[in-house]
Amino acid sequence: MSAAAGGWRGLGGYLRRCRDPPGVLYILSLFSAPQMRRCSAPSPPPVAAAAEPFPVELKAGKKYAWCACGHSKSQPFCDGAHRKAAPGVSPLRFTPEEDKRVWLCGCKRTRTPPYCDGTHKEGTQP
Ligand code: FES
Repeated sequence: MSAAAGGWRGLGGYLRRCRDPPGVLYILSLFSAPQMRRCSAPSPPPVAAAAEPFPVELKAGKKYAWCACGHSKSQPFCDGAHRKAAPGVSPLRFTPEEDKRVWLCGCKRTRTPPYCDGTHKEGTQP
């Protein structure tokens, strides 16, 4: 493993440097989708942007950034608000392979980001 500029290479590329704040934290994505990133240092918990999911028409090949912190004013997508409101939390970037209508999570507690999995029906977080 080498500490190359901009991030580490190792563990199959799963270990990388966090971007917010830069240079200090490292992220590990061993137990979730490759796009889902978790910092090893504490980051602020997400806030619910809505109590229910957002219906969205996704376009094949278009790049999207789902807001993971809940602070964006452009829900369910990122507007960069995490940089000040939730350092250490990054949006989940994804590109659908086909046009489709989906429900994107608004409560920010889904276990299948960015898609709603019904967790919002379970009530508030402890
Ligand atoms: S809106 Fe978050 S799980 Fe449904």
